[in-house]
Amino acid sequence: MIIDGKLISLQIQDEIAIEVNKIKSNGGKLPHLAAILVGNDGASETYVAAKVKACEKVGFKSTLVRMPSTTTEQELLEKVNELNADADLDGYIVQLPIPKHINEHKIIEAIAPEKDVDGFHAQNVGRMALNLPTYLPATPYGIMQLLERYKIETVGKHCVVIGRSHIVGSPMSILMARNTNPGNCTVTLCHSRTPDLKEFTLKADILIVALGKPEFVTADMVKEGVVIIDVGITRVTSDKTKTGFKLVGDVKYDEVAAKASYITPVPGGVGPMTIASLLKNTLKASRREVYF
Ligand code: GUN
Repeated sequence: MIIDGKLISLQIQDEIAIEVNKIKSNGGKLPHLAAILVGNDGASETYVAAKVKACEKVGFKSTLVRMPSTTTEQELLEKVNELNADADLDGYIVQLPIPKHINEHKIIEAIAPEKDVDGFHAQNVGRMALNLPTYLPATPYGIMQLLERYKIETVGKHCVVIGRSHIVGSPMSILMARNTNPGNCTVTLCHSRTPDLKEFTLKADILIVALGKPEFVTADMVKEGVVIIDVGITRVTSDKTKTGFKLVGDVKYDEVAAKASYITPVPGGVGPMTIASLLKNTLKASRREVYF
């Protein structure tokens, strides 16, 4: 079965729009999300534009803060402090990557945890690990939503995660091991230093792939009936499309789909869910559900 992330994302956006209408009719303050975009990375421009558009669609207020690629660390820290102090703003994100001359860690730690709707601040990562109320990072939260809404059984399953990034692989391994539903998996976290990856992937009931190598996972690496969550999204050249490129995941889709019980396509799988997650976190922030 194909997991339709686009459809679920739209459903969640509809649910959020209904909540916004309730807030409006009660005369409440609209949820307000801001994004800081430093420089003009092409992919970041696209992602941030999609986030702003989604805010408009559900009825949130949104603010885009653009800063040049020459912005200093001090200037960005000052902007972060300004947004921390802005009482009208419920939550905000600093779109990554930021220019190399700025210490990313320092910036993320300067974000007020109660406004960190990306869930990247150490305090929120710690709260996630402890299963305390927090903002889950967008991609892992989106994957959890897909597993939940497709009623995919996870209890007692062996979940193999490939990739240990701070924004996907590492939090995903924590979430799948927690005593929650979805969750309660036995988790194996594989990464670039794992010898004989296939030995592990062949044992996966649920395989979450987030390493950024197009069509890396092939049919011989998975068992019959596996659940495949493909987080990869790479632009490759193609002579079959008008634009001359196409998006491919980390999984060789056609051959792996033939063996999978569930699989997320690329595009239209995990990608659209990240927006829905960010909106959910912003609604939580505006309701002071996490920190109060
Ligand atoms: N860059 C890639 N993914 C993300 C994300 O989820 N949040 C932010 N802020 N930047 C990103």
